[in-house]
Amino acid sequence: MANHKTRLAVFCSGTGSNFQSLFHAIEERRLPAEFALCLSNRSECGAIVFARQHGIPAIHLSEKQYETHEAFSSAMLKTLEEHDVDYILLAGYLRKVPETVVDAYTYRILNIHPALLPDFGGEGMYGINVHKAVLEAGCKESGATVHYVDPEYDKGPVLLQKKVPVMPDDTPESLAARVLECEHKLYPDALEKLLVGNES
Ligand code: GRF
Repeated sequence: MANHKTRLAVFCSGTGSNFQSLFHAIEERRLPAEFALCLSNRSECGAIVFARQHGIPAIHLSEKQYETHEAFSSAMLKTLEEHDVDYILLAGYLRKVPETVVDAYTYRILNIHPALLPDFGGEGMYGINVHKAVLEAGCKESGATVHYVDPEYDKGPVLLQKKVPVMPDDTPESLAARVLECEHKLYPDALEKLLVGNES
């Protein structure tokens, strides 16, 4: 189809600063994509507010709303199908994506992780824990990774990575801020690579 835009679902649990940077990059770089929905396990968070303000369907979907895991994953799949979603972008989503959804969207789910995978990934490696571990290991550099999602945590093939230096006086918080800034460029770059094959 000539003018088909790739329809993206973004999954978030918090601030949604990566969602916002992706949204702006799509506008500025004129990437052939649009947000079909923003899904969150939280009824109110920065990402949900941003979605509402920008006319993007904001959907609260939590496992707590369902009696079984199967009912929850079916509801998630149905939502994605109803909104005609091509790709899912995880951006600070603090839940595991149900296996049936991962299977239905093989190589069509991306995640951003605030470290240089395969190092500092896996269960428990999220938020400030990642940056504490990087500092404790004495690394001279850290960074961020955009990767495809498979049923294991942080294990799918890497799409794009970007490095940042670790400074001698870094705290987990100062390193987190530097990495987050890097993420805001990396995720749009990865999306551009995926959609148009450009690598900036
Ligand atoms: C980012 O550091 C991302 O790498 C991690 O969660 C954080 C989300 O931040 N998965 P935000 O909600 O995009 O501001």
